[in-house]
Amino acid sequence: MCGIIGYIGKKPAAPILLQGLRRLEYRGYDSAGMAISNGETIARIRSVGKIDSLSEKMKTVEIPGTVGIAHTRWATHGGVTEENAHPHTGCGGKLILVHNGIIENYRELKEVLSSSHVFTSETDSEVLAHLIEEHLKQEDLQQGVVALRKAVEKALAHVRGTYGIVVMHEAVPHCLVTVRMGSPIVIGFAEDENSHEHEYYIASDASPMLAYTKKVIFLEDGELSVLTREGMETFTLKDEQVQKHVEEIEWNDEQAEKQGFAHFMLKEIFDQPTVFEDAIRGRYDLAEGTAKLGGLNMTEEQMRQINRVIFIACGTASYAGMIGKYAFERLAGIPAEVEVASEFRYRDPIVDERTLVFVISQSGETADTLAALREAKRKGAFVRGIVNVIGSTIARETDGGTYIHAGPELAVASTKAYTNMAAVTILYALQFGRARRVSLATGHRMLQALVEIPKKMNQILVQTEHIERIAKKFASYQDMFFLGRGVNFPVALEGALKLKEISYIHAEAYPGGEMKHGPLALVSPEFPTVAIMTKDQLYEKMMSNIEEVKARKGPLLLIATEGDEKAKEISPDVIYVPETMELLQPLLNTIPLQLFAYFVAVELGRDVDRPRNLAKSVTVE
Ligand code: M6R
Repeated sequence: MCGIIGYIGKKPAAPILLQGLRRLEYRGYDSAGMAISNGETIARIRSVGKIDSLSEKMKTVEIPGTVGIAHTRWATHGGVTEENAHPHTGCGGKLILVHNGIIENYRELKEVLSSSHVFTSETDSEVLAHLIEEHLKQEDLQQGVVALRKAVEKALAHVRGTYGIVVMHEAVPHCLVTVRMGSPIVIGFAEDENSHEHEYYIASDASPMLAYTKKVIFLEDGELSVLTREGMETFTLKDEQVQKHVEEIEWNDEQAEKQGFAHFMLKEIFDQPTVFEDAIRGRYDLAEGTAKLGGLNMTEEQMRQINRVIFIACGTASYAGMIGKYAFERLAGIPAEVEVASEFRYRDPIVDERTLVFVISQSGETADTLAALREAKRKGAFVRGIVNVIGSTIARETDGGTYIHAGPELAVASTKAYTNMAAVTILYALQFGRARRVSLATGHRMLQALVEIPKKMNQILVQTEHIERIAKKFASYQDMFFLGRGVNFPVALEGALKLKEISYIHAEAYPGGEMKHGPLALVSPEFPTVAIMTKDQLYEKMMSNIEEVKARKGPLLLIATEGDEKAKEISPDVIYVPETMELLQPLLNTIPLQLFAYFVAVELGRDVDRPRNLAKSVTVE
């Protein structure tokens, strides 16, 4: 939540920061702002609303300079106003910073500082600017960079909470100081083509710097870096120097563009066949009929000892975990459960050294998931990550795991990450299954079917216009049910979440069998149901549930197996999907629901990629 960015180099900072903010906009879009030093003074510009409104405002003023910071906000403390927009300054306007995170003791700090500092916003972040200013004496400023660094260190010793910050000061014009504590900071390096001087990009994730560099370092909690054109130094907050390891980012800039699609969400839905191949490539052995996920990092003996699997995640990632639960139970015969991270972290979960915990997260930064991960580790479980963003905190704090290789996912509504997460959970289940009870023939059949999935996804994507027509028809309803049974229940949950998230239509998902225990009372000609009735062992049962809805005159949209004529007899609105093995069917069945939600939202004129009140990376509790 909130995206921060900084640039120091030889190029004009404003366009780099603005473009970077667009890449980070998925992290929050209540307001945005930037500050740029021209070597003598710092100019600040802020605006309420999305990056477009900042961009419009920037057309009216020139902000020259080659060092700057910028921020896109998801409001936590203080309303959505220009005063609360970042960057925030100390009293004189000379010290200025951007912050991502939450300062838990900001009230106490503000009270103490208020006697000598004037606050102009309601935010927790502004406290940081005044606190650093308080520790930066005028006479120290002759020491330039060192003085600024020391003042930041001293100030942060008084702070409780999470922060990713970038600080600059008018008196130390060619310098940025950045610190990480609980909120991610990535630093990218490049060299100016002409002068060969260093250029640095700082951001909450690597996407804003992909156009300029693939070489990055990830700050750890409690680390601070000082960046000048001459170079970069990193310290702990206890002032010990640290050597950082440079990593290479695999993602490219093009992947983070819309590539002609109207929205990132649509592009990411269409990415699925390709990135699905990336998720499974090199991770199975067809001859052995098994998966081989090296990141599991467990001996065969340890694998045999596991008697319980828990998937921990939030939102869409938890629904991908549910598919993993079915797969583990069916293939490996190991009891498996799914826990919403925000619940797991505050219970006293029963977890021991025979428990395998998979922590699933697209961003790898979700605060609740991270806290649950730490709790599970503390209790001695094997904790493995299923993560998209390379180098993210969850990826680094787990003792192994697998990147899902979905590439940058920028729409707030998760699509391609979901299918790839589900695919990886199924591969893990197969790996355990083959080590325990699954036959070579079954393993082989399953992998053959998995390899066929991208082709089958394409068979759904070519039906986009048909799905759009149906979506337009359903867009005027106020409420919808989503029904699925067995392995399709998580599909129903995901379909309902997608719809409410981007269209703001009220949607609820139920296992088909639950309808007669209450929800059926709501069914009417005004309350339609989206039902997943693909052919599986619960097909007949699902048909009965669908008939119950039909008998009460509830309109139906059916997701059915290709060639199933019965579906057409029940409802005029059917989307057909190709058949695959039952456990893999959710990988296909979810796609029409993603497209359905997308087109309903477009029909209603919603801001599909940036739905109200949400942000992609939920780094606060
Ligand atoms: O980054 P994560 O996968 O940890 O995020 C978890 C949820 O916040 C996320 O899946 C959310 O539910 C999506 N916006 C749903 O589309």
